[in-house]
Amino acid sequence: MTDSNIVGLINSRFQIVKKLGSGSFGTVYKGLDRTTNTFVAIKIDDEEHTRHENEMLVFKKLQKSIGFPKVFWDGQHGDRNVIVMEQLGYNLDELFEFCGKKFSLKTTIMIALNVLNRIEALHNVGIIHRDIKPDNFLIGLQSAKNKIYMVDFGLSKSYLINNEHIPYKTGKSFTGSFRYSSIRNHKGIEQSRRDDLESIGYMLIFFLKGELPWQGLKGSTKSKRSKQIFNVKKNTSLIELCQDLPNEFFEYMKYCRLLRFNQKPNYNYLKLLFSKLFKEKKYELDYIFDWNIIAKIKKLQMEESYKETNKSVKALASVERVITTEKETES
Ligand SMILES: Nc1ncnc2c1ncn2[C@@H]1O[C@H](COP(=O)(O)OP(=O)(O)O)[C@@H](O)[C@H]1O
Ligand SMILES: [Mg+2]
Repeated sequence: MTDSNIVGLINSRFQIVKKLGSGSFGTVYKGLDRTTNTFVAIKIDDEEHTRHENEMLVFKKLQKSIGFPKVFWDGQHGDRNVIVMEQLGYNLDELFEFCGKKFSLKTTIMIALNVLNRIEALHNVGIIHRDIKPDNFLIGLQSAKNKIYMVDFGLSKSYLINNEHIPYKTGKSFTGSFRYSSIRNHKGIEQSRRDDLESIGYMLIFFLKGELPWQGLKGSTKSKRSKQIFNVKKNTSLIELCQDLPNEFFEYMKYCRLLRFNQKPNYNYLKLLFSKLFKEKKYELDYIFDWNIIAKIKKLQMEESYKETNKSVKALASVERVITTEKETES
């Protein structure tokens, strides 16, 4: 969808400003709430891929939880389903690129602790995410810039029916992203809490190593690619996968892979693994992430070259966006 397809104010109140991002099912725009004069994020589903009702059911359960965007309005605009929510900052995929495709151990652990809190909160309201990947975790703006938010509940599902765990099933079609999906998801086993946690593990290892062994595999069709990724994933031992990483990542993966289908994960055990490692390394919990440091360095470098050549105005502005995202709600 292009900006020109969205005509008029949404709900006579929200104005599209510019595109912020897009995923498999929709596009998210920065918008202006004309009644309060504040910025918001507007998610507009693709016509053919709407997950609106499902996503709203989940959002409603999370409105009191920390680390999930507040929803201001949802409904239809023309033939599209729309969610208007709190505007957040960059996603972890964008920040990973910005940082040269690697995160330090300190940043990765601070992300891990945030993400484990989010998944615990989501699981506590009876929902599994089923599409864990860096693009679905965003930093906040202003005073929330220390926090990692979780978004995108289009593929989420309740794992409880009448307070009972859903039954174990096989022969399910694949749901999620190949790179981060659990081995059992590839096998067609119904997903449960353990699969979200396994995917988080792959994401953290990806951040530290800069790549996963099953990346870049080609297949002439989607299902052939999925098969290739599955083969490499199941044939990579955890020792190999976690080579050169602190042992805690191996312990994390081992724990997730051993969880039973309907078992409640011990989130505290997993958080403790990482917080102990954080302390052992004598890191300071100052919420200074790699992107904060790199943005500062790049800004200084560009200011220097700007002074000399006077040509870097555009590049400087883009780096400044990362530094000043916290100021972005412009009053
Ligand atoms: N509240 C928000 N504020 C700012 N950007 C957002 C917000 N929600 C989503 N985005 C951006 O839009 C992208 C797509 O949104 P997402 O909800 O993941 O849609 P999809 O279901 O299409 O993947 C995200 O990866 C993120 O970069
Ligand atoms: Mg997404």
